[in-house]
Amino acid sequence: MPEIHVYPTTWALAQAAADRFIQLGQAALARSRRFRVALAGGSTPRLAYLHIAAQASRLDWSRVHFFWGDERCVPPDHPESNYALARQTLLAHLPVPVENIHRIHGELPAQAAAAAYCQALDEHFGRRPNEPTPLSQPSFDLALLGLGEDGHTASLFPNAPALEEAKRWAVAAPHRVPPPPLVDRVTLTLPAINAAGQVIFLVSGASKAARLAQVVSTSAGGAAASPLLPAMRVQPASGNLIWLVDAEAAQALPE
Ligand code: 6PG
Repeated sequence: MPEIHVYPTTWALAQAAADRFIQLGQAALARSRRFRVALAGGSTPRLAYLHIAAQASRLDWSRVHFFWGDERCVPPDHPESNYALARQTLLAHLPVPVENIHRIHGELPAQAAAAAYCQALDEHFGRRPNEPTPLSQPSFDLALLGLGEDGHTASLFPNAPALEEAKRWAVAAPHRVPPPPLVDRVTLTLPAINAAGQVIFLVSGASKAARLAQVVSTSAGGAAASPLLPAMRVQPASGNLIWLVDAEAAQALPE
């Protein structure tokens, strides 16, 4: 069974996630003087971002770089924008230099936004474009991810072509069927996510319980769904993977 930490409430989950964020940031800054984070979208991280912002004094934010795991192709001030969520709950409360905020330009068509994000990632991480990711090539110090009820993560949906991308770190992800919102997306790919130093899934609520149990049991060598669900394919090449979940989401986990 992968490393799973269960918290009694959504509040406690958010506080624990914030504490780990700060600890990982302090370690990254001590190690490399930079902390590169890919933020999760959706609604679960909202409270965690507020808790991080409340600990603003504990990190040198001038050395923190923010990326996103995915974005909906909507303007940056749209209520469905993952950037807008992070701006309202986190970035607006922190002294982060604007050049450290590497948002996905959701106002562009998906292909153009994905190409621009890929270029920004390649330049920031010193990657050769359209090359496989060597094991020695780290991506983010921390990648925060959510889990959809269908087993998606970021905007990697079941059976989607984006799941098979083996070179680019970001691609366009057309999205026409539930879960909502039914807008095109841009998503990190598995090579980018699996090159992270630390991956943390944040999962909250009873609606995720069955899927969470299925995903983590597969990671533990259980009978794999065929094909593997996107969240099951998050397997960091050399980094760590942990799950931070609340009691409601954990209710179907084996004792
Ligand atoms: C998105 C997210 C997506 C999210 C899950 C869980 O853009 O929608 O990146 O992967 O993390 O769908 O969403 P909730 O946190 O809203 O349940």
